Amino acid sequence: MTDPKILVVDDERLIRWSIRERLREENLEVLEASSLAEAMSQVQQGVDLVLLDNRLPDGQGLAAIPAIRKAAPDACIIMLTATNSVEVAVEAMKAGAWHYLTKPVNLDELTVKIHQALETLDLRREVQTLRDVMSAPWGPETIIGTSAAIQGVRQMLLKIARTPGSTVLLTGESGTGKDLAAKVIHYNSQRASKPFMNITCSALQETLLESELFGHEKGAFTDARAQKKGLLELAAGGTVFLDEIGEMSLALQSKVLRFLEEKTFKRVGGAQDVALDVRVIAATNRNLQADVEAGRFREDLFYRLRVLPVELPPLRDRPGDVEALVDFFLKRFAKEFKKPLFGVQPAAMRVLAQQSWPGNVRELRNAVERAALLAESQELTLEDFVLVPPRAAHGHGQPMVLPEEGIDMDALQDELVRQALARTAGNQTRAAQLLGLSRDQVRYRLERMGTAAQS
Ligand SMILES: Nc1ncnc2c1ncn2[C@@H]1O[C@H](COP(=O)(O)OP(=O)(O)O)[C@@H](O)[C@H]1O
Ligand SMILES: [Mg+2]
Repeated sequence: MTDPKILVVDDERLIRWSIRERLREENLEVLEASSLAEAMSQVQQGVDLVLLDNRLPDGQGLAAIPAIRKAAPDACIIMLTATNSVEVAVEAMKAGAWHYLTKPVNLDELTVKIHQALETLDLRREVQTLRDVMSAPWGPETIIGTSAAIQGVRQMLLKIARTPGSTVLLTGESGTGKDLAAKVIHYNSQRASKPFMNITCSALQETLLESELFGHEKGAFTDARAQKKGLLELAAGGTVFLDEIGEMSLALQSKVLRFLEEKTFKRVGGAQDVALDVRVIAATNRNLQADVEAGRFREDLFYRLRVLPVELPPLRDRPGDVEALVDFFLKRFAKEFKKPLFGVQPAAMRVLAQQSWPGNVRELRNAVERAALLAESQELTLEDFVLVPPRAAHGHGQPMVLPEEGIDMDALQDELVRQALARTAGNQTRAAQLLGLSRDQVRYRLERMGTAAQS
């Protein structure tokens, strides 16, 4: 395990200090808490091991074990007890502590126990990964849809899964299924029993992203107290999914390129080349070709990534898939919400298929989730779907931008009226509400559209 997080919960500063200093010699990172309240807030941020004193200013450590286990289910808890309180030790073990030690703590014994606990944790997690793989719900059938486009995608992903390690570039708008596609490739490949690691390039600032990806050596920068493996190393033998690669800086792009070409890399602050076998799957919702032309993306990396390109089509281009997707999500949410929902009225389904779904399958899934929650009958009606109007019409979120070449206001208004009517299944009053118009204004618009169509 890299950088395990060990939390020492004790109200005596001297005890925390001596434990921290000792574990630091072992290159182990120690977090501290002097009360249960502090401990819980640390635990919620993720810890691997908790050293828990019993007598704390705001309660008994023993009583907090269930809450700790709930917040960090696979963390190991070591209870610290006074010599004369065997019962506390027994109760702690019953409540799910992994071990106990009596105070005053023997630091050698503590160190041994901690190393054992970390090994146990590693094993537990390995078993969990294997379980996840064996029950991996990532077969090709998890990609719903029968349109020619999506069938082509499914076949392509399986073909790619059979190749040993070629780089893949997934493109497509947000919500079209790029994450899903990456998992399908990994879990149907020979790498399935090895890790699948996922990193969103836009989420981290450049230096952080580099060290997350490639790891760092001890002393590489001020906070680098120990060597740390990066995601690439953690994924050894498996797959790394670089999401939103279009947001990666040019400097980092060249390091990724070097790794793809030479299969070796250097940790940050390291001189040594580390050799590694991982498949890289990159994804972006940007037009990388345009970014290359604008000098924002390295051309050589673009071509390197594009060895196996897969384009996920937007949902509006395959309206025939909407019904199957709605049914699939409806089944899922009916089960989750324990509601006996069995379908969507045909008229409503037709409207759903005609929507433009700018957020693609993700937006559709959210719409079905909301409808499933709101539905009062077993068959969903259009009323149950709160279809989100386009942002621009809403007056918040991203402002609508006037295109360079100007715009035909009349045509735009006609189009919005049409969409509003489609969404409200022809109900002029509700369409008017959506547009912030009076019903007469909508009717006037409709009449004009009628006249324009005739002339
Ligand atoms: N063809 C599909 N069949 C079933 N679920 C899909 C499909 N495409 C996308 N999804 C689901 O829609 C949601 C968004 O997909 P995701 O892969 O995260 O999109 P992206 O990474 O392209 O933004 C996820 O819950 C995903 O499982
Ligand atoms: Mg995604």
